[in-house]
Amino acid sequence: MNIEVNPEWWKELFDEVYLVTDARSVCDEDVTRREIDLLRELIPLSPEHEILDLCGGHGRHSMELHSRGFKKCTVLDYSQFLIDRGRREAGRLGMEITFLQGDARATGLPPESFDHVLILGNSLGYIASPEGDRAILSEAMRLVKRGGRLLIDIVNGATLKSRFNPLAWHEIGDDIVVCRNRSLDGDMVYAREMVISKKSGLIRDNCYSLRIYEPDSMRRLLAQIGFSGVTVLGDFSPFHKIGDYGFMNSRMIVTAQKP
Ligand SMILES: C[S@@+](CC[C@H](N)C(=O)[O-])C[C@H]1O[C@@H](n2cnc3c(N)ncnc32)[C@H](O)[C@@H]1O
Repeated sequence: MNIEVNPEWWKELFDEVYLVTDARSVCDEDVTRREIDLLRELIPLSPEHEILDLCGGHGRHSMELHSRGFKKCTVLDYSQFLIDRGRREAGRLGMEITFLQGDARATGLPPESFDHVLILGNSLGYIASPEGDRAILSEAMRLVKRGGRLLIDIVNGATLKSRFNPLAWHEIGDDIVVCRNRSLDGDMVYAREMVISKKSGLIRDNCYSLRIYEPDSMRRLLAQIGFSGVTVLGDFSPFHKIGDYGFMNSRMIVTAQKP
């Protein structure tokens, strides 16, 4: 199948349909708790630390951190829908979390204003040019304090390639079916996703692409940007049930420090 992708797809597709198609990954509190459990083991967080949840979507990780006493969280995401949704939900729960809409390549935030920068839930690789991720990671470098940590949770490209699954579908509740057709070309994955309602028909038929990283290519990129002490945990999965969770199946957790 020929998969044609609008290079700007990521500016539009993180909306209410994404919260349905990816609910198993991004709307499951147990999954988020397990992700934060691991993060707590890997970087030294303290309640007075300023934490930036970069490309943080609807803020699920910041809400979990807040509930554990880490109350100085800022979520920045390009999707106005997710930012509005997160701000509303945090407000409803009485959590003071800053939600900002913006581009992670150029946030406009003051330099060295965070103790830690988190890029979680597979949030790199969407911009068509490789310069996009470089710009996001350089911005993370600018924003984190000296000695502060960067933590990235991203699909492990090596595992994804070795177990590449070109066809997958799953059902959500009684009505929704999500069908995905994927192809792999070097370090790029292209996917067509159809979301179908059994009751009312086609909801969405869209294509997207993702640049994937293997532990070594991520190490190299971070070193070029100036991070030190890069560590990679290569095989994290927060899921207890076997299934095809899109790009979320087998992830690498990367930590690095600003010298
Ligand atoms: C798969 S979602 C994960 C969201 C969140 N980190 C989570 O785990 O729930 C990827 C997110 O990255 C955001 N994103 C991608 N590129 C971005 C950019 N250049 N600037 C800001 N946000 C971006 C998208 O809007 C989307 O919300």
